[in-house]
Amino acid sequence: MHEGYSLSTYIFRKRIVIWVIGMAFEAKSFENLIGIKGFSDTLLNNHFTLYQGYVANTNKITDTLMAMLKDGKTGLPEYAELKRRIGWEYNGMRLHEYYFENMSKLGRAPDKNSKFFKKVTEDVGSYEMWEKAFKAAGTMRGIGWVVAYYEPVAGKIYNAWINEHDVGHLCGAIPLLVMDVFEHAYMTDFGIKKADYIEAFFLP
Ligand SMILES: [Fe+2]
Repeated sequence: MHEGYSLSTYIFRKRIVIWVIGMAFEAKSFENLIGIKGFSDTLLNNHFTLYQGYVANTNKITDTLMAMLKDGKTGLPEYAELKRRIGWEYNGMRLHEYYFENMSKLGRAPDKNSKFFKKVTEDVGSYEMWEKAFKAAGTMRGIGWVVAYYEPVAGKIYNAWINEHDVGHLCGAIPLLVMDVFEHAYMTDFGIKKADYIEAFFLP
């Protein structure tokens, strides 16, 4: 390890190096969610297909950027535009993984003994108040995500609105709960009733 670099910096750099040399991302399977309360199989299967598109595009852009780098084409506007776009595709991929991973057939009722429950109670007065704030962010007009982040510097939990996939993330914060509020996440089952979808997302 280079003197002066912390372990986290080293790990971060190692990840970047791995990404640059073209390690392909693989789509995960979330078939275990089929049959979950509140969501039809059709909605879920469409959503899985859409997620797989983000994985494929993240790989495609990564490979194209690498090829352009090798060919000395980094000065082209095409390179710049793909470089700008990679965050959108990558976040589209990872946010969907977090979203599917935080859904469970076992029910979504909060564990009152969990650190999360205790922390939001401490931060905003009650779990119910935190949930109300999270749902309120979700019902805002627009497409994107609502993410409950743990912000380690302040030691607090924040509900953030992410516009599309890439605008509004809190630097250094850790996503704890992720909710998709793009129309594809609910229109198949709920039409334009986004609030009903959000209630289904929180079904116990
Ligand atoms: Fe989605």
